Amino acid sequence: MDDKPAHAVLPAHTKAAPPSTVVIFGASGDLTKRLLMPALYNLANDQALDDKFQIIGVDLVKNDDAGYQKYLTDSMNSLIAEGGGEFAATELEEKPWNWLTQRVRYLSGDFGNVGTFNDLKDMIDARTEETGSGNAVFYLAVAPRFFGVVAEQLGAAGLLDETDHGFRRIVVEKPFGTDLASAKALNAQLLKVASEKQIFRIDHFLGKETVQNIMVLRFANGLFEPTWSRDHIDHVEITAAETVGVEKRGRFYEVTGALRDMVPNHMFQLLAMIAMEPPNSFDADAIRTEKAKVIEAIRDLSPEEAVKNAVRGQYTAGMVRGQPVNAYRHEPDVDAHSNTETYVAMKFLIDNWRWSGVPFFVRTGKSMGTRRTEIVVQFKRAPGVLFRHTTGEVEPNMMVFRIQPNEGVSIRFAAKVPGREVQISEVNMDFRYSDYFKSEPSTGYETLIYDVLTGDQTLFQRADNIEAGWKAVQPILDGWARNEGPLEFYEAGSNGPEGSDELLERDDCKWLPLE
Ligand code: BG6
Repeated sequence: MDDKPAHAVLPAHTKAAPPSTVVIFGASGDLTKRLLMPALYNLANDQALDDKFQIIGVDLVKNDDAGYQKYLTDSMNSLIAEGGGEFAATELEEKPWNWLTQRVRYLSGDFGNVGTFNDLKDMIDARTEETGSGNAVFYLAVAPRFFGVVAEQLGAAGLLDETDHGFRRIVVEKPFGTDLASAKALNAQLLKVASEKQIFRIDHFLGKETVQNIMVLRFANGLFEPTWSRDHIDHVEITAAETVGVEKRGRFYEVTGALRDMVPNHMFQLLAMIAMEPPNSFDADAIRTEKAKVIEAIRDLSPEEAVKNAVRGQYTAGMVRGQPVNAYRHEPDVDAHSNTETYVAMKFLIDNWRWSGVPFFVRTGKSMGTRRTEIVVQFKRAPGVLFRHTTGEVEPNMMVFRIQPNEGVSIRFAAKVPGREVQISEVNMDFRYSDYFKSEPSTGYETLIYDVLTGDQTLFQRADNIEAGWKAVQPILDGWARNEGPLEFYEAGSNGPEGSDELLERDDCKWLPLE
C-alpha cells in the first residue's frame, strides 16, 4: 500500500515488520475473530506488515481460501455492527482489508493429524521458495488442551527448525497451565521442541498502553523512585473489577475460577510492574528477570496461612448497570451447586529489602457494580503535628494508576482551602491519556503481534515468570482444594463480599471506593 493510512495505531516511525507467514491454529475461533484479525487489520492499515506477509488459517472446519476470506470479512463486519468490542472501528476500510485478505490462505485439518502438518510444511516451503523468506509464526489460538499437541506436531514436522532463510516462532495464549505442576509440564513440552527465544507466551494485559506506562512513569522520572519503598509506601492495592459475568464461558470458568483466570497472570503483571527493581537495561531479558525476581519474592505460606489471607466470593442475582443479572449458579453450563469463585481478594507480602512489611492487596471479580482496573499506591501519612488544631483530616498521599477506563494517573495531596483560617482539603492532580495523546483505539494485540514479528520478547512471559506466578498462588489453591476458607456470596452489581473489606481492615487499610 503506498498511500498514508487514514489512522494509525502504532507510532508513525514504525517500520514494516520482516516478511513472514503467520499460521493461526484456531482460525475459526473467537480469539481470531474478535482480536487477531482486527489487530492484523490495524497493522495492515499502519503499513506495519511487509508486502510478502501471509496468513494461513488452520482449523478443522472444511473451507477453502475464498470461503475463509469471506468468513473473515463477514466476521469483521458483524463485529463492527455489534459495536466492535475492543476493536472499536466503525467501518472496515476497503483498501487495507483487501490488502490483508488477499494474503490469507486456509488449510482445513485436524491438529492431531500428521498430514495437517505435512501439508502446512509444503505450503510454507513453497512460500519460502517463492519469496526467499521462510519466517513463520505459529499462533496457538486454540483451547489449552491443544497447546501441547500442536507444539509436538510442529516439532515433529520440522516446522520449528530455524534456518538461514528464516525464524520460527510459536505464540501461546493463556491459560498457561492450571497450576504450578501443569505449567511446568507445558513449559517442558514446549522447550522440547523450541528454544525459549522462539516461545512467545501472551498475557494481553502487557499489550495495554497503560500497563507499559507504569515502567516509564517509574523509571523515566526522578520524582517517584526515591519514595518507592517501605520507607514511604504504606500499602498497594491492585483492582480489576469487571461488570461482565461469565457470559458464555461457563464450562471454562467452572474449572478455572477468578483466581486462576486473573491472578497469576494479569494481576501479577501489574504487581510486577509496580514492585520490580529497575532493570539494568530495557532489554527483554533484563526486564523479565526483574519481574520474575519480585514475584519469586512473594512470601511462601502454608495452605492454612495462605487461605487466611484470601477471600473468595461468588455472585448471586442482582442488577448491573440497570440490567438484571442471574446468579452465577444459574449461568449456562454452570453447576447449580458450584463452589467456583467469581471474586477473589488477597494479601501478599513481598520478602525483599524494598518491600518488607508493605502489604500488596489484590482483588478481582465478575458482575461487579463498576468496571475498573487500577493500582493505588498509598503513601505513609505525614506527621500531623502542625495541623492538629485545623479543620479537615491530613489524609495520606495517594498515587492512582488507572489502567482502564479513563486511562491516566492521579496524585492526591493536601491543599489549603482558600480563606483566613487554615483549613485542609484533599485535591487531585490528574493526568488523562486522552487529554495529551491522540491515539486510535486498538485491541492491544497490535503491539504484541508486531513484537512477535520483530522478535522483541519484552512483553511476553518467560518460563520462569509463569512458574513464579503459579508458585505464589499454589498454597491458596491447595487450601481451597481442601475446603479451607469459606466461599462468600455477593450480590451482582455490588463491590464484592464483605470479607474483602475485612481483609484490609486487619491491616488498618481500606480499599479505595469503586464508585
Ligand atoms: C481474560 C480473562 O484473560 O481477561 C477474562 O479470561 C477477563 O475472564 C479478561 O474478562 C479481562 O481483560 P480486559 O482486557 O477486558 O480487562
